[in-house]
Amino acid sequence: MPKVSIIGAGNVGATAAFVILMKKLADVVMVDIVDAVKGKALDIQQAGTIENIQNTIIGTKNYEEIKNSDIVVITAGKPRTPDMTREDLLETNWKIVKSILEEVKKHCPDAILIMVTNPLDLLVNLVIKQGFNPKKVIGQSGVLDSARFKTFLGKNSEGMVIGYHSDDMIPLISTAKINGKPITEVLTKEQINQIIERTRKGGKEIGNLIGTTAYYAPGAAIAQMTKAILNDTNEIIPCCVKVDGQYQITETCLGLPCKLNKQGAEIIEIPLSQEELNQLKESVKKRK
Ligand code: NAI
Ligand code: 2OP
Repeated sequence: MPKVSIIGAGNVGATAAFVILMKKLADVVMVDIVDAVKGKALDIQQAGTIENIQNTIIGTKNYEEIKNSDIVVITAGKPRTPDMTREDLLETNWKIVKSILEEVKKHCPDAILIMVTNPLDLLVNLVIKQGFNPKKVIGQSGVLDSARFKTFLGKNSEGMVIGYHSDDMIPLISTAKINGKPITEVLTKEQINQIIERTRKGGKEIGNLIGTTAYYAPGAAIAQMTKAILNDTNEIIPCCVKVDGQYQITETCLGLPCKLNKQGAEIIEIPLSQEELNQLKESVKKRK
């Protein structure tokens, strides 16, 4: 049975654990600094029993339990409050993530890392700089942002969001479809612009409604990436990764379509409209 360790069993981590267990993707270890982690794991295990699921889940403060993990998901750290940007979290969360990386190096250095803690793009970059294989450091943002985009497009829609997990993320209009038709044939320009704007502010919308960061969709997004990796599906999923010349971009970490499998993530170059490519390059330039 594959093994997934989730570091940080707060709202996002525990939800991801719940979805992974209910989908029978792996045995799960949740690690946190608070005692509640044990109770959350027991609660999830009992939910599994209701579904006759044989996969196991434990909650612990002891990092030795993560040894031999196939995937380590890092969700530990502070979420933003409605008045904060994701970038405001950098100093606090990098300290936490850095300490966790030491444990990963000690106990399962070859595991694939799914990064979730914000500010996502900056932390993925810092993690890779600690010597981890760039193909195996994969940030979750694109699944969530694309889910928001598709939710706002409505039923039977297809769509992908790339770029930074920030207000200048890029919902791809050129390839988005509703009922198999290009969205430009179904929606007015004004409707499309409203959907782009709502997608970009999707995290804030949830934050304002619930008083903390989203966690159900982020948990499901982590599970989707976990499934593609463990089941070696080669599914094309937008993920935050280190770019090395693809899309004429270098020296940054941001969301791009990636083939996910047991080896990690491989960036796939899909056709973009000139406007989308320009937006992508512009958002990279803004951060340099
Ligand atoms: P939360 O506060 O509910 O959970 C965070 C957990 O991390 C807590 O249980 C805390 O005890 C634990 N923790 C803190 N320091 C730790 C350490 N050194 N070792 C192990 N555990 C530690 O927060 P939530 O809502 O789960 O969010 C977690 C992070 O994920 C935040 O940074 C948030 O911004 C980010 N996030 C990212 C998303 C994305 O799409 N990339 C989506 C949603 C949240
Ligand atoms: C979200 O987009 C804040 O990254 C978190 O919900």
